[in-house]
Amino acid sequence: MPKYFKIIALALLLNGSVFAQDTLKSYANKIPMNIGACVDSNFYQNNQAYITVLNREFNTVVCQNEMKADALEPTQGVFTFTTADKLVAYAQQNNMKIRGHTLVWYNQNPSWLANGNWTRTTLLAAMKEHISGVLGHYKGKIFEWDVVNEAFDDSGAGARRSCFWQNVIGDDYVDSAFTYAHQADPAALLFYNDYSTCTINAKSTAIYTMIKALLANRVPINGIGFQSHQQVSDSSASLYANMKVNFDRFAALGIKLSITELDVRMLLPSTQTQLNAQAYVYKVFMQLALAEPSCRTFMMWGFTDKYSWIPSTFPGQGAALIYDENYQPKPAYTALFDVLKTPLAVAPPPFAGPSVAAHGAARLSFDNLSNSVVVRGGKTAHPVHLEMFDLRGSKIAEAYVPGDCRVPVSSFGVAQGTYILRAEGNGAMMRMHTTK
Ligand code: XIL
Repeated sequence: MPKYFKIIALALLLNGSVFAQDTLKSYANKIPMNIGACVDSNFYQNNQAYITVLNREFNTVVCQNEMKADALEPTQGVFTFTTADKLVAYAQQNNMKIRGHTLVWYNQNPSWLANGNWTRTTLLAAMKEHISGVLGHYKGKIFEWDVVNEAFDDSGAGARRSCFWQNVIGDDYVDSAFTYAHQADPAALLFYNDYSTCTINAKSTAIYTMIKALLANRVPINGIGFQSHQQVSDSSASLYANMKVNFDRFAALGIKLSITELDVRMLLPSTQTQLNAQAYVYKVFMQLALAEPSCRTFMMWGFTDKYSWIPSTFPGQGAALIYDENYQPKPAYTALFDVLKTPLAVAPPPFAGPSVAAHGAARLSFDNLSNSVVVRGGKTAHPVHLEMFDLRGSKIAEAYVPGDCRVPVSSFGVAQGTYILRAEGNGAMMRMHTTK
């Protein structure tokens, strides 16, 4: 091999680019976070450009339409899983997780269900049969289900949506749906999912009140899905703060928070200003997800503008996703990538204890071979206080060690992962990837 080839090979090797490609997924896996998009079997079959991006960037998928009631139970009691099963097989082959969407909704129902002549008892029985049929079939394969979708209307009064579920059964159709789902797949995480709920308003407050009551009544609900169908006009400086207070109140209920259908639409044709505003909104959502320990799932409603529900649903609008129609990354992609790359969204709190004078100026490094933290230059007479944070800024371990030593990761008792380590005193910090 000519010498300059060797040099190039060595440079690539050192750079890591031969082995690992930095993608949304590569960073998300370290946190860990489920990051993904909705798909449709028509998109990922025989479309190499689409498949390349999907497999490279995402670790999670959800069906855009193929797991809705009209698709899975077109005739009462007769289930058609063939198309949805293809996605499950595809995801499993490609090492991706699957979100389930959706079981009980006012929309996209088969006519026997939407137009049936129901009583409360017969409709509850039909609901139970649908949920048991679907969850029974996918048991153990789908980690998170949208059990009830869009039960509230847009009146601004936080009212329940008028639909056959509500009108025939009453408010407690939601309770029953979650109860049936839990019976059918006790391990699946069960979500309530809705839109226009990211900030505090009448609808999000009504949902908050409902979930609180469901939990008090021991109804098996595990999380809230924020659909997050946004617009570039949402890009205000207060977006993060307005969402944070809302997310925090749901997190305080002890449930999981998932971003389930994010897209950020704009009037067409798109302009650079709009694309930048869109990138800002995507960035804020990712910052918020990282800052919220109970938010581990970040799904977009597609990833390429080639396939998006926006143009047909909101005429004149579009360009809502992070890749353009030719699979080129947009500023929104870069915004997500950059936030995920430096995920310490919340800076560790300032020191409370003694400073450099007492502890010395310790230097930190990480030794991959021995999977140990190396501390140099601290005062030997006084132990160095090491604090370990996860990538969301929560302290997960600490240790007092001599000023000049090697500390095996095992002594911190943490799982393999990426952490921030800080030495009290001069505040030396490093990001470390443990090897075991
Ligand atoms: C949309 C799909 O993207 C479209 O293809 C379909 O025609 C209508 O439904 N909220 C939801 C999703 O929960 O199921 C919707 O998906 C978008 C809004």
